[in-house]
Amino acid sequence: MTHLTLRTPDDWHLHLRDGPMLRAVLPWTAAHFARAIIMPNLVPPVVTGADAAAYRARIMAALPEGAQFTPLMTLYLTEDTRPDDVAAAHAANLIHAVKLYPAGATTNSASGVADFSRVQGVLERMAQIGLPLCVHGEVTDPAVDIFDREAVFIDRVLDPLRRRVPGLKVVLEHITTAQGVDYVKAHDTGLGGTITTHHLVINRNHILAGGIRPHYYCLPVAKREKHRLALRTVATSGDARFFLGTDSAPHTDPAKLQPCGCAGCFTAPNTMPILAHVFEEDGALDKLEAFTSLNGPAFYGLPPNEGTITLARGAPDLPSCINTDDGPVTIFDPGFTPGWHVTARSSC
Ligand code: DOR
Ligand code: ZN
Repeated sequence: MTHLTLRTPDDWHLHLRDGPMLRAVLPWTAAHFARAIIMPNLVPPVVTGADAAAYRARIMAALPEGAQFTPLMTLYLTEDTRPDDVAAAHAANLIHAVKLYPAGATTNSASGVADFSRVQGVLERMAQIGLPLCVHGEVTDPAVDIFDREAVFIDRVLDPLRRRVPGLKVVLEHITTAQGVDYVKAHDTGLGGTITTHHLVINRNHILAGGIRPHYYCLPVAKREKHRLALRTVATSGDARFFLGTDSAPHTDPAKLQPCGCAGCFTAPNTMPILAHVFEEDGALDKLEAFTSLNGPAFYGLPPNEGTITLARGAPDLPSCINTDDGPVTIFDPGFTPGWHVTARSSC
């Protein structure tokens, strides 16, 4: 096989930032993806429908001429989020999900939720109107080891939350553990899991063995090899509950390469080549379209894209970093040369 044509993919978890960074990174996503769920962790965060409308307008203004890309906006859940505001933004087709950050779990999560009883009313309203909750699934308890924070979150927070709000659609985002995979697999409806590009490729040794590699540091942090293999197995299985959410999270190199560096891998430019390589390595190229282009829309109740993307054999021609007016941003290095590159995208 020399070419691979898929329905145009979507990215169900993406950080676009704002200002110069938005203008620099958006074209990379818009080149390969038709839609993306846009993370709301700006400073200040996107908390109201009005904030989401304004951010959406800034994204549309930053799109290159002729680009075909639809941002799917989200609201950042705070303890003061008003159910009526969420319902109105959903009714206006402005937002497609609400994002839950446990307070202090990750970048710009200080306004997130500490007391879950305070968001019960919003979550109940979301269940009524069928609006999904996207969850950053890590506890913030300093006593819990960082490598255990996802598994503990599932037991302590996620499962009780889902029991308290029956019918709430939930996406457990950027799953990094076998426990995360098993939890999603144990439920047939209303629960999905996104998997990033980088968590299919790196384990914790890649970050820490033989020298520290800040560009591989993200949250949730990559775990042991057995967890990476669990992610690979389920992503390449075609299971409809799992779909791509790159969590492409650009930070400038100076922000990553400092004594306390930021979490995030910038994968938008090479996600599709890396995924084609990974799925082929696992003998599952026939399952790639389900993971990138079919399972996500089905979960969100949206039609799959009508257009296509075509990949051909051969390495992508990409720089190691891109320049932005905020500074250079390093593109995720998978540690191998992908055997595929994107050649074309058609809209019909
Ligand atoms: O690695 C990450 N980067 N994980 C997150 O949860 C947030 C993200 C960011 O915004 O940089
Ligand atoms: Zn993220």
